[in-house]
Amino acid sequence: MALKITVIGTGYLGATHAAAMAELGFEVLGLDVVPEKIELLSSGRVPMYEPGLEELLAKHVAGIEGSTGRLRFTTSWEEVGTFGDVHFVCVNTPQKHGEYACDMSYVDAAFASLAAVVREGALVVGKSTVPVGSAERLAELLPEGVELAWNPEFLREGFAVQDTLRPDRIVVGVQGERAEKTLREVYAVPVGQGSPFVVTDFPTAELVKTSANSFLATKISFINAMAELCEATGGDVAKLAEAIGHDDRIGAKFLRAGIGFGGGCLPKDIRAFMARAGELGADQALTFLREIDSINMRRRGQMVEMAREALGGSTFLGRRVAVLGATFKPDSDDVRDSPALNVAGQIHLQGGQVTVYDPKGMENARRVFPTLGYAETALDAVRGADVVLHLTEWREFRELDPAELAAVTSSRVILDGRNALDGERWRAAGWTYRAMGRPRA
Ligand code: UDX
Repeated sequence: MALKITVIGTGYLGATHAAAMAELGFEVLGLDVVPEKIELLSSGRVPMYEPGLEELLAKHVAGIEGSTGRLRFTTSWEEVGTFGDVHFVCVNTPQKHGEYACDMSYVDAAFASLAAVVREGALVVGKSTVPVGSAERLAELLPEGVELAWNPEFLREGFAVQDTLRPDRIVVGVQGERAEKTLREVYAVPVGQGSPFVVTDFPTAELVKTSANSFLATKISFINAMAELCEATGGDVAKLAEAIGHDDRIGAKFLRAGIGFGGGCLPKDIRAFMARAGELGADQALTFLREIDSINMRRRGQMVEMAREALGGSTFLGRRVAVLGATFKPDSDDVRDSPALNVAGQIHLQGGQVTVYDPKGMENARRVFPTLGYAETALDAVRGADVVLHLTEWREFRELDPAELAAVTSSRVILDGRNALDGERWRAAGWTYRAMGRPRA
């Protein structure tokens, strides 16, 4: 009989995983402790913007016309315990307030609730990003006859559906053959389509996730450090990235210099990794991550300084600053630790009149930073601006018509914090275009 799957926690990761499991043909039950989320998901909607996710839900959520009916949602732990052969734990592990360490309280609570209802012979699979050593501790909480596996998730926001259905690798940390066999059954389709299946022990599986994110963060901060050198010497970081990226050992991806990384994963994961290394007496191994973090945070201040300089070098008081982009990356409505919103906020706090526009992130941005100005379109944000900052590389911004925007502002200075606009097009339309880490024209 086909395995029955539950997904505990229906945030970003859980909602996507549940829909993907249904797409792979399994009967799936998703649980969340927030009834409003369950209500929303049960009607095929998601509380965030993620391309393709609502379509996938609508295809499978029970009760939606024409759906397979394979996917349901509940708030009942008893139902989860009775239903599931395999339970995926997908709750979040945010950064603790005022500390580097990650907050394990949601994971601990999920395991405690699950332990009370799980059937003998079932498999529990942790997907949340946790400090190394957590799986071994959590295994102790489960009753006799219930196995644990750790199966980190590598999905990127904006590509969550495709990353989940066709992952570029599947990593499973196991202690026994039964868990491995069950997970091979769960992932038979993507493995059959070529996704590598890597079997490890618990600590390695946990470390794979945090080390992968640390490597990505390092790559971004490395190129941003080179951008600082380019700024000091007149070099061009975009050309430099292109040139070093041709070396296969380095690779061209994740070498876009700009205002740096943000979001709900990279910043908090490298901090939690440092905190955990400290607890393990291995802090020296990760002191370089402190530098990665500080290069990253410094970029935001450098963007503010670039804007100040463009405005004549002294104060933002009374100056109008248009900010294009609020989310931490395009194709997402997520503003968690967003470099764009941080830059907008810094300028606002220094007296600038900031007007922000973002294609999908306005609601979240307004909620976390209600005192900023907001416009309904890019054109409205730019109207009358003394300087325009391009801070999230949405396609909509690349496709803007510089001539149309030139007509609504007389100062015509645009600063590209993402190295993503076609500078020549902007210059041809009468703009002064400057990008981080690149020479002035
Ligand atoms: C990341 C990992 O990529 C993913 O594997 C993991 O599961 C979760 O964390 P995500 O947070 O969705 O995914 O974003 P990602 O695409 O990695 O981008 C992170 C940040 O880095 C963004 O703010 C982005 O703008 C920035 N970035 C990315 C750069 O500044 N330069 C680059 O070249 C690439």
